[in-house]
Amino acid sequence: MDAFFNLHDGLPREGPGDRESLDWALSRAAIPRDAAILDAGCGPGADIAGLLDHAPEGRVLALDTHAPFIAAVERGFGDDPRVTARCGDMLAATGPFDLIWCAGAIYGPGVEAALSAWAPQMRAGGTIAFSQLIWRVPEPPDAVRRTFAEVPRIGELTDLVAQVERAGWRVQAERVLPDAAWETYYRPLETRVQQKRLGASPELRDAIAATEAEIALWRRHRDSFGYAQIVAAAP
Ligand SMILES: C[S@@+](CC[C@H](N)C(=O)[O-])C[C@H]1O[C@@H](n2cnc3c(N)ncnc32)[C@H](O)[C@@H]1O
Repeated sequence: MDAFFNLHDGLPREGPGDRESLDWALSRAAIPRDAAILDAGCGPGADIAGLLDHAPEGRVLALDTHAPFIAAVERGFGDDPRVTARCGDMLAATGPFDLIWCAGAIYGPGVEAALSAWAPQMRAGGTIAFSQLIWRVPEPPDAVRRTFAEVPRIGELTDLVAQVERAGWRVQAERVLPDAAWETYYRPLETRVQQKRLGASPELRDAIAATEAEIALWRRHRDSFGYAQIVAAAP
């Protein structure tokens, strides 16, 4: 197992998010009780129970390219016939879907590619709810820019809204993901770092240092970058 996944193995979620942010989005999505839902880039499946609370007679297709996450979803939901977990590319998912939920994972294919691949997979009246990295100020500090130098096309919330609308989707709600959702991700990760530090291999030590730097960057500069949450109606 590589050092990153050694550090992350068994954590409840793999990106910022929590029940409040799921409820915020789904209360604006108005999905049917029997909705067909794609959880795109589901990670270990942190949001599946919440999705099913909003669509108790629905179905969730949980997709991720990382097989151990799919195994975790199968362990958690193997007995629930409403949940199918599959290893695969989120852009290859075949609908029709009432809702595509994509928490912190749309960066994989990119917003533009995802929105154009998913438009034909939506039912009439279907909705997407996703979160994506944004700048919260026009000029983020150098340390922030350097950290995200490899991420293409990061803009402010208004730029992201415009990008979604240019792709033909109609934005119904948008906001900056609250800090509590980041703490929900980072607190268990901080505990894991403490547990793994003793006796860590050089590779694991590097992964721990990178994780600590990432968390410190967010704690110091969270006013200058964050995640947007977007809820949008299909074209
Ligand atoms: C930041 S994690 C978020 C996971 C989960 N949604 C959560 O909030 O815990 C992003 C996830 O997207 C997955 N991913 C990235 N690109 C993907 C793709 N093209 N198809 C499917 N999954 C992908 C990664 O393997 C990872 O599990």
